[in-house]
This record gives sequence, C-alpha cells and structure tokens, in this order.
Amino acid sequence: MKKAFIKSYGCQMNVYDSGRMADVVAEGGYAEAASAEDADLVILNTCHIREKAAEKVYSELGRLRDMKRERSATGRETTIVVAGCVAQAEGREIIRRAPAVDVVVGPGSYHRLPGLIRDAQASRKGVDAEFDQVEKFATLPRPSAARIRSRGVSAFVTVQEGCDKFCSFCVVPYTRGAELSRPAGAILDEARALLDGGIREVTLIGQNVNGYHGEGPDGRTWSLARLIEAVAGLPGIRRIRYTTSHPRDMSDDLVLAHAEIPALMPYLHLPGQAGSDRILKAMNRRHTADEYRRLIERVRAARPDVALSSDFIVGFPGETEAEFEETLRLAAEIGFAASFSFKYSPRPGTPAADIAEQVPEPAKDERLQRLQAQLEADRQAFNRASVGQVLDVLIEKPGRHPGQLNGKTPYLQQVQVTGLAAEPGEVVTVRITGTAPNSLFAEPVEAGRAAPALVEAA
Ligand code: 5AD
Ligand code: SF4
Repeated sequence: MKKAFIKSYGCQMNVYDSGRMADVVAEGGYAEAASAEDADLVILNTCHIREKAAEKVYSELGRLRDMKRERSATGRETTIVVAGCVAQAEGREIIRRAPAVDVVVGPGSYHRLPGLIRDAQASRKGVDAEFDQVEKFATLPRPSAARIRSRGVSAFVTVQEGCDKFCSFCVVPYTRGAELSRPAGAILDEARALLDGGIREVTLIGQNVNGYHGEGPDGRTWSLARLIEAVAGLPGIRRIRYTTSHPRDMSDDLVLAHAEIPALMPYLHLPGQAGSDRILKAMNRRHTADEYRRLIERVRAARPDVALSSDFIVGFPGETEAEFEETLRLAAEIGFAASFSFKYSPRPGTPAADIAEQVPEPAKDERLQRLQAQLEADRQAFNRASVGQVLDVLIEKPGRHPGQLNGKTPYLQQVQVTGLAAEPGEVVTVRITGTAPNSLFAEPVEAGRAAPALVEAA
C-alpha cells in the first residue's frame, strides 16, 4: 500500500486542513506514513505569516529533494506537494526555486489533490491556487469513525475562512482570500460525525471566527453565538471553544454566550497586537487600546473566571520605545493566561512592508525578550493561582508515567492527573496540587477530601 506523510506548519486552520487532506489521500489509497522517508507522497502544508515560517519550507524542500533522489535510486518514486499559504502566495515560483516539487495547491483548492497528484505522476506538474471554498467543503470526503478516533478527543471544525480586515502587517487576506462562512447545517453535520466518532471537544475555527455569519437551517443568518448554542445541543458534546477572534466582531450575544452556555469554555483568544493607539491605527486594527480594555471588562463581567490570551507584535514600523512600553502596560494590566508574541516581519504585498522607518532587528529582539518575559511571568502566575482549585479536566490520553493521565482544564492548561482511573474523553473533577513549567499536577478530589472527613469523624 502507498503511504503519505503530511507535515503541518503554522496555525490551527492548517492543522484542520492537513486532517482533511489526509482524508482526501486516504480515499486515493494512501495510508499514513510515520515519516517523510517512508512516504510515497509528502505534503508540506505551509505557513506564510512571517518570513521565518515561509523560509522553513525551503530548507525542508532541500532535505526532501535529497531524499527523493535517494529513494528514486532504489526504484521508489516520491511525489512532493506544497500546500497552504506559501503555495497560495508564491504559486509556480515554488517549482522554479525547488524543482523537486510536483504539485502546488492553495488552501482553497486542495479537494482537487487526487487529480493533481495523478497528473504529476504522469509527469505533468500542477499549480492550483483558486479560491473554491464552497466547492471544496461540498466535495471533501468524510473521515471514517476509526480515523476520527485515532485523532483523539478534541477536534477542530472550520466554520469560516478568509479575512476582510486587512491589518496592514498581515498576509492572510491575500493567502486565504475573502471571508466566507460555511452554512451552519454543514458545520453541525460535521460536528455530529466527530461526536459519533468519540470526539468530546470541538473548537470552531476561522481566521476571523467571530465574524461568522453563515446561513442557518432556518434560513436566517446565524451568528457565532447562535452556532455555538446549536453545537452545545448536540449529543455527546462536552466542551466548545472558538478561535481566532477580532475585537471588532466581539458581539454582545457572543459575550453573553460565555455566561449562558455551560459547554462553552471560559477561554478567549483575542489578539490585541499592540498597546499604542498610534500603532494600532497604523496597523489598521480599527480599535484603540481602551476599546480593547473595555471589551475585556465586558467579557469578564459575563464570565469572571475567563482565561484570556492574545497575540502581540513588537517592532511594527515606526514603533518607538515609549509606544512599545504601552504594549507592556496593556499586557500587564490585563494579566493574560497565555499569549503569543512576535517580532514584526515585513511581508511582501502588505502595506506595512512599504513603510520607510522599519525598526532595527536588535531593538525588535530586545523588545520581544522583555515582552515575552512579562507574558511568561503572567502565565506562571495564572497557573500558580490554580493550585488548590477544584477543576474539571477533560482526559485526553495516558500521561508520561504509569498511573498518570493527561488532560486539559477549562482554561486550556495541560494537567497530569495521578491516582485516577478514567478513559480519554471523560471529564473528571480534580484538585490542582502543583505546577511545572508547562503543566499542572492534580489528584482526585476524594483523596483531598478524605483527610478532613476522617478528622471530623474522629
Ligand atoms: N509579522 C509578525 N507577526 C505577524 N502576525 C501576523 N502577521 C505578522 C507579521 N507580518 C501575527 C499576529 C497574528 C498572529 C497569527 O501572527 O499577531 O495575530
Ligand atoms: Fe490578519 Fe488582521 Fe485578518 Fe487577523 S484580523 S487574519 S491579523 S488581517
């Protein structure tokens, strides 16, 4: 049997797309390979968000070129596909720079992979960078229950693709195209199939997920909040999450959903990007730092224990030290549970790349270090505050050591639970006993309760 290996770079949308590409090639008779060396078909699902991410692809392609040559010498042919956002942005240029590549396919057309692969194997290299999302979602195959189960207890479902926001630093509106919301009925069908296959947590994803406005089964336009309410009603669902949101689209009904829908987890990833209004304006973010603060207050009023996370960019063109300090201040005031932060990376074709006053690399490095140190301290503080709390944990898999189980709190913290028998997919109530740099430790609640009860009885 032929084998395929898919390597995913970048965001959750790519993770989802990689899963669906695996379904597409599985239908074409490819089993999953453990490594590229072992594969007849290698797909790199690429990310174009920052220069570093895009460059990684070319170094990997260099390695694959050598591998393809070695395999060919022993009579085994390899087909190499570049998919994702680099494919969309660079198209045929990829084959020019890396002639070992056989197929280039964008995020809007990977449902046509079987034909492209067939053509490539008949020596016709192909490039397909059309945005055909409607056709794509209508024709992608459904994974089998066994394939779903093999992927764990948590799954992504794309509800919306593309972005119309045009932040001045960002390639996404160009690589993922205009915003498109899938019909709610199709999303619910996909979620139902995942739940039937054993999935217990569904994360609704989209580049601008809270801008979702899809057609509902009732013929009306559904908001993300309405969609979440419907997903919460599906049998078997335990947890719902959504990402990534834009502050401008954080509507009242979505904020309220955090108060009213128990399955909706108290976690919100809401990129703020910067703390200076001048920079936010230059970024074309269409919100001020105070609007962001007030929005966080509204979410906290609806759901006081909500864990917040953000994305930040340091060294946007023209950013002064004082403006950077406003980012530090904003982040410190809010106290994020987790965050991602990046050095500004000029992307070809985006307006910010043409601004003359780029911040020198050493200044960007220094700012990133300071911001990351602060964000990391806040993350650790958030984790330490969990110690002693009784929390629900969704069990995902066996832990590192015998007798341990691995799972997640509602706040997306990784937990190692000791002394409990439970299956992946179960939600158990535990007491948090300690923290490690990247996870929490927990024990069954009863163990903690037993001691005081005995004392009382005596
Ligand atoms: N440079 C650095 N970071 C960027 N991001 C998007 N574009 C760029 C860029 N050109 C960051 C933003 C976004 C996250 C996914 O990546 O913070 O929210
Ligand atoms: Fe990029 Fe801005 Fe759209 Fe997010 S909202 S994908 S940062 S353009």
